[in-house]
This record gives sequence, structure tokens and C-alpha cells, in this order.
Amino acid sequence: MENLDLSKLPKHIAIIMDGNGRWAQEQGQDRLFGHYQGVISVRKVVEAATEIGIQYLTLYAFSTENWERPQEEVTGLMTLFVDTITKEVPDLHKNNIRLRFIGNLGLLPSHARAALDTATAHTAQNTGLTLIIALSYSSRWELVEAAKNMATKVKAGSITIDHITETTFSESLTTSEFPDPELMIRTSGEFRISNFLLYQLAYAELYFTETRWPDFRKDDLIKAISDFQSRERRFGKTSDQLLPNDEK
Ligand code: IPE
Ligand code: IPE
Ligand code: MG
Repeated sequence: MENLDLSKLPKHIAIIMDGNGRWAQEQGQDRLFGHYQGVISVRKVVEAATEIGIQYLTLYAFSTENWERPQEEVTGLMTLFVDTITKEVPDLHKNNIRLRFIGNLGLLPSHARAALDTATAHTAQNTGLTLIIALSYSSRWELVEAAKNMATKVKAGSITIDHITETTFSESLTTSEFPDPELMIRTSGEFRISNFLLYQLAYAELYFTETRWPDFRKDDLIKAISDFQSRERRFGKTSDQLLPNDEK
């Protein structure tokens, strides 16, 4: 952690927590065992993010497409989500963590939705890390919802077409209250976005690691942040333009 420049931390880190199933199968276990072990990584990474001073952490826990997995895995995951969230809320609250959920939550069973609502309400006033869980989330779903939302407002006459800007559009997304992630991490050696935050990741630095999610720990997070800090973020400009005026 001494290697990190605390003045150059990403405000928001997003993680595609991938590889639970393969991790379990590699040791002759059921895929669900991998998901249970993945929860330990979540706990460690949340602790580390708090300690490092990250302000927003988004974790991709379940995609809209994941509903198509075998029924047994889906049911097992839902039970795991509800049990974990319910069990972890007191500790999260104690650590001043604010919990939020994004995604098509209407697809969740009502008892699961109720558990998420309770957890959100319980931690709503906290001012430390904002932990955002993407659950039943798909970026295309989110973008289509935002487009529908804006079209409805135009039709109702509450806004005009000129009112649709990058700012107002991003205010229609489920992430409207959060800054865009500057760093996106995907574990387990897959090099794709899998329908995650397509709009918000426009200028994020992407970091891929072979490490499977159940093996991901604080050191791996620090390594990713350190890699992020070594990059030059140009946002379309040239390197020269990024120099302070007296060094040009
Ligand atoms: C990520 O691990 C967790 C979820 C998608 C719910 P996977 O379950 O995708 O694990 P692999 O990629 O099959 O190994
Ligand atoms: C992405 O992982 C979704 C989550 C980590 C929740 P997947 O394992 O579902 O993605 P693909 O199918 O490999 O693209
Ligand atoms: Mg996967």
C-alpha cells in the first residue's frame, strides 16, 4: 500500500467479479461453492477499498443474462445474495458504508427485493464508501430505460428535445448519483465488458487479471490501482497538452 499515491486514487472502481464457477470446478467442487467463496473476496475487497480511501465501489454480481443459467444455480445465487446482504448489513453500517443496488430489480423475487430495500434504507445516511451492487443489471437495459424515460418527458412536454444532453442523459441512468468509474477491473482472464456500464466506462482505464474472483484479495486490488496510477489518461488530448503550462 506504500506504493500507492494517495493523491491520485480513483474515486470510483468498478469490478466484474468473474471466475467463481471455474475456480470451484477446478477443485472438483460445485459451481455454487465458488460463489460462496466469492463472498469472502467481496468482504476483503470492501474492507481494502475502505482502508485505501476509495469513495465508490461498484461490484457486478449478477447480469440480466445470468437469469438464463441453470435454475439450480440461479436459485442458489439468489439465496446467497439475500442471506449475505442481510447478514452483512450491521457490519457495513458500523463501517459507515452506504449500500446501493442498480439493475432491473423488478425481476427479483419479492422477498429478495424487500431485503435489498431494507439494506439500502438502513445504510442510507452513511458517509463513507458507497458500495453499489449491480444485480440483474444490463447496460443495454439501462440505456433503453433512459431513452424511454427521456422520450416520455418530451411527449409530456416537461422537456424539449434540446434538453437531451450528455448531462441530462446520464442523469437518467441508474448511476445518476455516482461519478463515472475511472478504473474497471475484470478477474479471471476474460477480456470483455459483458454488458456492464457501457456508457459510464467511456474513459475508464481497464485492468484485466488472470486471478479468479475467489482468489482476489487486497494485494490484487492494490496492484490494479498501482497500474492505474502508472497510466497517462489523455481524454483525447496529446501528452504535451497534459503538461503544466510552465513545463511546455
Ligand atoms: C461470476 O463467476 C459470478 C456470476 C456471474 C454470478 P461465474 O459464475 O461467471 O464463473 P465462471 O466465469 O463461470 O468461472
Ligand atoms: C459477467 O460475468 C457478469 C458478472 C460477473 C456478474 P459472466 O460470466 O456472466 O460473463 P460472460 O458470460 O463470460 O461474458
Ligand atoms: Mg463468468
